[in-house]
Amino acid sequence: MRRFLIGGNWKLNKGIIETSEFATYLLKKDLNINNIDVFIAPPFTSIPKALEVFANSTISIGAQNMFWEEKGAYTGEISPLFLKELGVDWVVIGHSERRVVFGETDEWVRKKLEIALRFGLRVVICIGETERQREEGREKEVVEKQLKKAIEGIEFDPESISIAYEPIWAIGTGKTAQPDDAEEMHRVIRELLGKKGDKVSIIYGGSVKVQNAEELLRQENIDGALIGGASLDPESFSKIIKIAEGILC
Ligand code: PGA
Repeated sequence: MRRFLIGGNWKLNKGIIETSEFATYLLKKDLNINNIDVFIAPPFTSIPKALEVFANSTISIGAQNMFWEEKGAYTGEISPLFLKELGVDWVVIGHSERRVVFGETDEWVRKKLEIALRFGLRVVICIGETERQREEGREKEVVEKQLKKAIEGIEFDPESISIAYEPIWAIGTGKTAQPDDAEEMHRVIRELLGKKGDKVSIIYGGSVKVQNAEELLRQENIDGALIGGASLDPESFSKIIKIAEGILC
């Protein structure tokens, strides 16, 4: 059965000192993570520190991106092999900031998915529409295209991938999708996944915080959250984890 997943996407925040401080604070919380998966995705250079400080915990470590080749003349890129070598479990691909700021295409997402699975990484594939696309009523069409282009024809174990529905207009803006609207999109995504749909965790991202987490996470088709801003503060991140655990108890 699909599991709840809470991911912290730190983006370009927290070097090694802040990573240690965060862990010290978070690990003092009595988290009792039993029923859900939790990962934190720090910047690449903080990953070794994160792996060290969370080594004896139930928190896994992810990367925010990686390249689609194992090695070669690709200046500035990071190989899935290196992530695996470090002990990273998760990788986020296709985040909207990668798509918008760095020109990441659906084709890149697909290539990254293929190699990540080959290396045994668990993958979060991010999809989501812009505000304009939603205003034009094209949100389902956009999300369907992104999802199909990423996964069509790829063999995958449903437990090794998670889909993050992140409406771009809700990311870092404080605007959150209405729980009903998010639920409706998650239902559509599950349908698009066909037979495997029931086993894939579909998580929501976009200004998730302590105040709105419960209502979102209680929706039938929302299986967790990808959290940016609120994951930087151990207090709010731990509260959201507790909310998720509480729903499953
Ligand atoms: P946010 O970011 O929670 O700060 O909106 C979410 C994300 O980008 O994954």
